[in-house]
Amino acid sequence: TRPPSLTLLGKEYPTDSTTNITDAIADKVGRNLYTDPAHPLGILHVLVSSHFHDFRSHVGLPPVVTPAQNFDDLGFPPDHPGRAPTDSYYLNRDAMLRTHTSAHEVETFARGERRWLLAADVYRRDEIDASHYPVFHQMEGARVFGADEAGRAEVEADNARLEHHLARSNIVIEDVPHISATNPRQEAHDPVMAELVAKNLKLSLNSLMLTLFGDRGGVNEGEPLRVRWIEAFFPFTTPSYEVEVFFRGKWLEILGCGVVQQRTLDRARVPDSISWAFGLGLERIAMILFSIPDIRLFWSQDPRFVSQFTAGQISTFKPYSKYPACYKDVSFWLPGSGLHDNDFCDLVRDTVGDLVQDVVLIDYFTHPKTNRRSKCYRINYCSMDRSLSNEEANAVHTQVIANLKDKFGVEIR
Ligand code: PHE
Repeated sequence: TRPPSLTLLGKEYPTDSTTNITDAIADKVGRNLYTDPAHPLGILHVLVSSHFHDFRSHVGLPPVVTPAQNFDDLGFPPDHPGRAPTDSYYLNRDAMLRTHTSAHEVETFARGERRWLLAADVYRRDEIDASHYPVFHQMEGARVFGADEAGRAEVEADNARLEHHLARSNIVIEDVPHISATNPRQEAHDPVMAELVAKNLKLSLNSLMLTLFGDRGGVNEGEPLRVRWIEAFFPFTTPSYEVEVFFRGKWLEILGCGVVQQRTLDRARVPDSISWAFGLGLERIAMILFSIPDIRLFWSQDPRFVSQFTAGQISTFKPYSKYPACYKDVSFWLPGSGLHDNDFCDLVRDTVGDLVQDVVLIDYFTHPKTNRRSKCYRINYCSMDRSLSNEEANAVHTQVIANLKDKFGVEIR
């Protein structure tokens, strides 16, 4: 039984059959971790904003958007999996928690801004492990040029400036063609201008990668920074790319970007223009730069975490003693309608909060005679701040099982 309405950030929303936001998630809304200049996410936010110092920087936009803003306006097809209630949080069928900062592209372009950045919390239903959390933070950035002679002169001048800067930097770039048969320009674009704008995007982001990952106090020990460009696909850009950086021995996926679909600029009523945009995940980069081993730590208010960071400084996190893990299994017969991994994970998170470190599906089978399906999950209970007794783990596990029966009608084996 669901309540007829729910209240979030002081606004009331009637609920319906798509409503799936949990209290654990609602609790995180409005925390705005990235606006604290001494929090690792805030330090990174400042670093990116100062790199793009002549871009207007937006923060604090409320996370509730319409599915039109999050998906339709950006050209997501009607059957895109991200729309499913198993993947996104809905307040009701007309209001959802944004799954990416791109949800604000149209309104920001519509204000006529030509260089902008936007940081925000975003929400995605997912499995539970050390690098996935249902709330994380992204930064979006975009730059608009006029599709005329003046715009062309502007992009050419900026490309020359950036090429000059990169030529004197310690960076090696593995590139892909700006435009290709598999990563085409848009019909509406002048071919030369499309190339120049794609090139400006690449130069701008290579320069950002140098700011974030370039030689900082011996981290790369004089080795050049290696950046790799890969063709990608997003419904709202073409050509599109992903950027990877080679850091401490591994290729790391850093961001997605591309030349903005004209549809977006048309909706924003910005005629005769061409733009690029990028979106990057702050946690992913902060975990690497600060050596933070578990994504839950970003939410910790433990002084042993919080006090380690200083505004304006990238430092290496020193883990305080790791508390022992406590594994508990739960096996059950699925209800006829099934049970999605993400529904299971949200139930665990909603019951025990951040005491859950990860959840793994360890067994899944169909009984050969009855055709009933069984799942077994292994839950790892581990607090980041204190040692969890076995009794306490048993107690929360019992609560998980009770809620599982209650909410999904499963039969425990
Ligand atoms: N919104 C995309 C994501 O979340 C990233 C992106 C932003 C890609 C802007 C292209 C342009 O994955």
